[in-house]
Amino acid sequence: MTDLHLPLDRSAGRLAAQIAAGFRSAVRTGRLTAGTRLPSSRDLARDLDVSRGVVVAAYEQLTAEGFLIARRGDGTRIAPLARPDEAPPAAVQNGVPAPSREPRPEPAPPPAPAYDLWPGKPDLSAFPRERWISAARAALRTLPHDALTYPDPGGVPALRAELAGYLGRVRAAHADPGRVVIMNGVAQGLSALLRLLRASGHTLLAVEDPTSDRQLPMLDASGLRVIRVPVDAEGLDVAALARTGARAVLVTPAHQYPTGVVLSPSRRAELIAWARDVDGLILEDDYDAEFRYDREPVGCLQGIDPERVVLLGSVSKSLAPALRLGWAVASPAVAKRLRSHRETTDLGAPVLEQYALAELIRGGGYDRHLRTMRRRYRARRDALAGALNSRMPGAVVRGVSAGIHLYVELPRGCDEDAVVARAALSGVSVAGARPMWSAGRAGHAKPALVLGYAGLSEPRLVKAAQLLGQAVTDGTEG
Ligand SMILES: Cc1ncc(COP(=O)(O)O)c(C=O)c1O
Repeated sequence: MTDLHLPLDRSAGRLAAQIAAGFRSAVRTGRLTAGTRLPSSRDLARDLDVSRGVVVAAYEQLTAEGFLIARRGDGTRIAPLARPDEAPPAAVQNGVPAPSREPRPEPAPPPAPAYDLWPGKPDLSAFPRERWISAARAALRTLPHDALTYPDPGGVPALRAELAGYLGRVRAAHADPGRVVIMNGVAQGLSALLRLLRASGHTLLAVEDPTSDRQLPMLDASGLRVIRVPVDAEGLDVAALARTGARAVLVTPAHQYPTGVVLSPSRRAELIAWARDVDGLILEDDYDAEFRYDREPVGCLQGIDPERVVLLGSVSKSLAPALRLGWAVASPAVAKRLRSHRETTDLGAPVLEQYALAELIRGGGYDRHLRTMRRRYRARRDALAGALNSRMPGAVVRGVSAGIHLYVELPRGCDEDAVVARAALSGVSVAGARPMWSAGRAGHAKPALVLGYAGLSEPRLVKAAQLLGQAVTDGTEG
């Protein structure tokens, strides 16, 4: 925030677009008037704590749109044409003032990017609508009326049973229906577990560094002190974890988010030994574990020590985040506390969706969908990685062949924020990796992008890689 009042939401990315939107809105509402001189890009970048390239990109965009005028020696000013939206004078009809106008709607959000590579979304156009309709219809046809009352707060038995079977078969989880608690996604499962940890005396939570910046606010809101633990090519550094004094850790062993590494066998053993040693708890976020392309995914940690590990998963990446359906698989004692958490906070998850998912799994539709998506995502990952290889010399794709995102280290000397900003201006929405690192390590981490490729066809991914390559080259030349 500066005295220009340009609020930035760093977790939402596209900082240049946010700055441009902030200026447009200030001009439209009359807060900034024609002729007002704006701070230099260097000063504004410093005030907003962004790189100068981000502000330059925003100013260039606004100048191209006619909102700003840049003259050598006179700096950058609000253009005379950029007038606020004035409310017209109230009309008078037959001596009676017309009713006051409706308040003006909020300015329209910026148009959707042409190439949306923002990470974290599956291919939403591939949601198995027909299969879901059939599953929901089958469930509705057969459900007794009584099933429509308040549900078991831990989840309807049919879904817990299907998930226990599925997770045992596919993720080698130690799951029986009594250990499965239905949650509204990993996010709610995690928030509930953190609350339980606090209630039982924990004050610290160890978390991977880097980690999902979408999750960080949830962790901060827990009241636990979040301690970041480095991730290297083998995953979480367990020796460093042991030095933190924490007795609870959140990890993504199947496919570390965002770097894409898999927790190595020796680290898995060390992590379990650590948990036993400190009488601790491992929160295993089974992030995008369904999608491993070059081999079978390793089984989950929870299957090794079901009393010390809580497995968290959801259908957000396998079907759609909009369903808000997920699960925790925990020891009977923790499962009981999670169930009573739901009973005392929200009385459980929506029932019809739970039955529909149970039916989808039971009838084999879920497995079929995953098989289709695995093939599709693998082709997309290969297309993007291959195109980056040729269009962005010097860039390095990290991580295993899995999941729905790529972690790409940029060529030496690149300014990550500026690349993200220039990409946004050419219609490619990408996330920079820096917000995912702790403040202490961000300065040492190589500049990188996190690219979600699930929703774009191969030709479009190749085009996006070309535009990204251009965004990098422009910065290197400038
Ligand atoms: C690493 C990671 N795990 C889990 C989640 C949350 O997923 P869910 O939709 O299941 O709550 C996110 C959300 O972005 C995430 O980044």
